Amino acid sequence: MARSESDTWDLANSVGATATLVAAARAAATNRPHPVISDPFAEPLVRAVGIDLFTRVATGEFEGDDGALGIPRMTDMFAARARFYDEYFAQVADAGIRQVVIVAAGLDSRAYRLSWPAGTTVYEIDQPEVIEFKTTTLSKIGAKPTTERRTVGIDLREDWPAALQAAGFDVAQPTAWLAEGVLIGFLPPQAEVRLLDNVIALSAQGSRLAADHGSVIGSSEDSLEQAQKITDSLARHGFELDYAELIYPGEHTDVAAHLRDRGWDVIRYRLHDLLTAAGLPELETADETGPATNVGFATAVLWSLHRLLRFWFEKGTDLSGYSKADLKRVQDKLNNRPRPPSTSTHPHNASPP
Ligand SMILES: C[S@@+](CC[C@H](N)C(=O)[O-])C[C@H]1O[C@@H](n2cnc3c(N)ncnc32)[C@H](O)[C@@H]1O
Repeated sequence: MARSESDTWDLANSVGATATLVAAARAAATNRPHPVISDPFAEPLVRAVGIDLFTRVATGEFEGDDGALGIPRMTDMFAARARFYDEYFAQVADAGIRQVVIVAAGLDSRAYRLSWPAGTTVYEIDQPEVIEFKTTTLSKIGAKPTTERRTVGIDLREDWPAALQAAGFDVAQPTAWLAEGVLIGFLPPQAEVRLLDNVIALSAQGSRLAADHGSVIGSSEDSLEQAQKITDSLARHGFELDYAELIYPGEHTDVAAHLRDRGWDVIRYRLHDLLTAAGLPELETADETGPATNVGFATAVLWSLHRLLRFWFEKGTDLSGYSKADLKRVQDKLNNRPRPPSTSTHPHNASPP
């Protein structure tokens, strides 16, 4: 069924099922002999949802048939993505950030599986049923969050900033945001812009964001054909999900450009960079490169002006002789400086390079 303004779901249908599929890929990646990620909660969560096909993906029993559902490569892609964001969180922890918000958290178990510095609070936002299911299932198997975890069950098309603040979010503290697997077509473009503008408004200086963006289904005929192949393959294996119908058609927001235009220091990545960083094989066939062309990745930092200027002017320089406009020009120049292509996963250091 096509998307509508106030549609809802659980983890076994519509957009919710995509969270289960991604978790199944993380489980499959975890179960490999030389895993690049470790998500021990993914498999029990997927089993609890109860979609037989996805459980078989999670355990490694189902690897696809005719290549339409190329499970091994899908596993590589989601594993590389998960690893990239795990490393992002390690880096934000090193930078001293103790407030984390995971939007569209789905079956993300980072609040249970990562080692967070003392005093970190992780907020998770998703549809109420999704959040509730994860909390209950993990509690039933005796899993405990490794830090303070606060949940916000709300639709991201509604007033989530108010709900987040009601849960204790502190606008004065720098925040590390993550939007994994959501700004890729699951929200209408206007809702994406609103979400980013809300993130910006709630971000104290020093905040960071990591996200993937674009559209998991591009608008080309090849992309639509590919989506149809996935839908058909899912149906052949007993699961009805019209993949293309989950995605809002049209142009989606370039998250990297949106943040850069608003003064954030942004680095772009392609899926290829993430796979290479994880030591996984490159993309080869058209089925594999399709999603890679339509989706990009970005990490962004809102450096404080003070911190930026310290890297431009000699230590001890008296800045009182510069007008606000001069300083703003320097800030813009720094934020828009050309950078060499990325060679490591997260070249955003604790300070501007
Ligand atoms: C592909 S899943 C990604 C889940 C998780 N971030 C991960 O990577 O495992 C997309 C997630 O976005 C959530 N989502 C999409 N649209 C949403 C909305 N309007 N409000 C709340 N959550 C939404 C879904 O419930 C789902 O959990």
